[in-house]
Amino acid sequence: MAKAPKYLTITEVAKRCDVAASALRFYETRGLISSTRTAGNQRRYHSSMIRRIAVIKVAQNLGLTLEEIGEAFRSLPDSRTPTKRDWERLSRQWGDILDDKINQMQNLRHNLSGCIGCGCLSLKRCSLTNPNDNVSDRGPGARYLIE
Ligand code: FES
Repeated sequence: MAKAPKYLTITEVAKRCDVAASALRFYETRGLISSTRTAGNQRRYHSSMIRRIAVIKVAQNLGLTLEEIGEAFRSLPDSRTPTKRDWERLSRQWGDILDDKINQMQNLRHNLSGCIGCGCLSLKRCSLTNPNDNVSDRGPGARYLIE
């Protein structure tokens, strides 16, 4: 059996990971993946980036932001590609983040119930246009018109 190449072109990685080349470049600008350059300034990705990209895709499917994913990667020693054990830890942490997001969405869903068929979008009454009456912290009156 042929040994997999250690370094791959952007096209090869895009194909293997089912990700657009532009997405790979974007991940790279965000520090989520890295590459080396050839003498002709072409990107070459170490094969370990494939696992990293798989983790990024899973995390994005879970609704995590690139910022949250980057934070998780930075928590790894030497920002290494997540090992099986790293993944266990990250997935536990992300489970907690997901629980928070689910709670927030359930609260939004609950608040939306009062809006269905209403349409007022009132800053006084509507908990979606002014969650937790945050605008009242800015003082009395029509704060959006004053500011
Ligand atoms: S739209 Fe009227 S309460 Fe939200």
